[in-house]
Amino acid sequence: MRNILRIDTSAQQERSLTRALGDIFEDRWQSLRPEDPWQRHDLALDPPVHVGSAWIAAAFTPEDRRSADQQDLLSASDRMIGELAAADLIVITVPMYNYGPPSTLKAWIDNVVRKDRTFSFDLTRGDWPLEPVLSGKELVVLTACGEFGFGPGGPRDGMDHLLPHLDTVRHYLGAETMHVVRIEYQEFGDDRHRTSLKAARDEAGALAGRLAARTRPSLQGEAR
Ligand SMILES: Cc1cc2nc3c(=O)[nH]c(=O)nc-3n(C[C@H](O)[C@H](O)[C@H](O)COP(=O)(O)O)c2cc1C
Repeated sequence: MRNILRIDTSAQQERSLTRALGDIFEDRWQSLRPEDPWQRHDLALDPPVHVGSAWIAAAFTPEDRRSADQQDLLSASDRMIGELAAADLIVITVPMYNYGPPSTLKAWIDNVVRKDRTFSFDLTRGDWPLEPVLSGKELVVLTACGEFGFGPGGPRDGMDHLLPHLDTVRHYLGAETMHVVRIEYQEFGDDRHRTSLKAARDEAGALAGRLAARTRPSLQGEAR
């Protein structure tokens, strides 16, 4: 059995392209592996709190010295880390907002990337004191943007702060590989968008098929 955690982030429900890609991926997966359990967290309906000073103080207080209020303050983070830790596959559906992630996804990341839970910190490691605690997961990112050409050599090369961020932070989610399916040109609504949409829908289903067919997660050759 493989546990899947699906995180939806679009502020839109009905008209969301990224949620629709998530549904294609999920439907294909469930047709092949109906026994696999799915946990879902819709960040638009259930947004994580932004971390504040009391939250940070609680997170950096050793667990056995936390007050009841501090434990309470971290309880939602504990729950989200529990969902993450249980997952073999993380599926994030995410639009580009202002060249980065929606703030709800950033808040989720700030809640789950936590000292002594998802990373350890040790200055005897020199210039790289952080190490991930979790491992062996894969990350699937199903994304959409209004513009186009964010890839290497494209007209907006260097303007994408969504995928590079997820690719960096995925280590602390325990994801050794990241797979991306992206819809472009949404704001143009022209043939380029329709072509991109069809290719992304096909790829979301095909990716689910390839990953679901594996008996074990984390085959490096599939990642891009
Ligand atoms: C608040 C907001 C900010 C956006 N910022 C960008 C952007 O910086 N670059 C871009 O290419 N598209 C941007 N878009 C377009 C969305 O990425 C695009 O509409 C995408 O399809 C939204 O995902 P969804 O259909 O799942 O809601 C933005 C849309 C919204 C609503």
